Amino acid sequence: MPTTKILAFAGSLRKESYNKKLAKAALAGAKAAGADVTFLDLADIPMPLFDEDLEARDGLHPNARKFKDLLLAHHGFIIASPEYNSSVSGALKNAIDWASRPVPGEKPLECFGGKVAAIIAASPGALGGLRGLVTLRMILSNIQVLVLPDQHAVVHADKVFDAQGRMTDDKQRERVEAIGRKLADTARCLGS
Ligand code: FNR
Repeated sequence: MPTTKILAFAGSLRKESYNKKLAKAALAGAKAAGADVTFLDLADIPMPLFDEDLEARDGLHPNARKFKDLLLAHHGFIIASPEYNSSVSGALKNAIDWASRPVPGEKPLECFGGKVAAIIAASPGALGGLRGLVTLRMILSNIQVLVLPDQHAVVHADKVFDAQGRMTDDKQRERVEAIGRKLADTARCLGS
């Protein structure tokens, strides 16, 4: 079987995003489990707000194509989701909406179907973005992604990362790395 490939990204475009830092912490766990890992910053592939008229006129946006290609090239995803008003961020939903669009020559939802995801969140608040994960789990399940039962929400995220972006709370870092490891192991089992 080819090496298991895990892609991590966050639903935040913010430079100092806690969720980007959290995604990288989980990715370290996947790497320790032997996976080939890639971190994607969604800010590097800006996508316009999805608009069916725009799609009908210009087709799939080139950055949506890049995002889709990355999803297609990986077996599993780590998604760190900020919670915006009790749900996922617009940037994350927009990226998922673009990637979900059918394209000639590809099976419907080909970049999502049969893939596995681990979902995590970080927020300065007292719930850590937990409510957004409920929505994210539902969205992913409905586009044929198997979502691991294990998840983690980092509360008071403004106090949990050091200047290098490393999680200073060992217990939480180990928990997040364990989720990354489990994702890699599960993706490997599904692919064998
Ligand atoms: C927030 N934030 C927030 N936090 C939370 O715990 N629950 C919430 O419902 C919301 N809602 C919300 C809406 C909007 C529009 C913004 C901009 C922010 C705060 C949010 O958790 C905080 O800005 C995080 O730092 C965002 O994640 P990143 O960018 O650090 O990854």
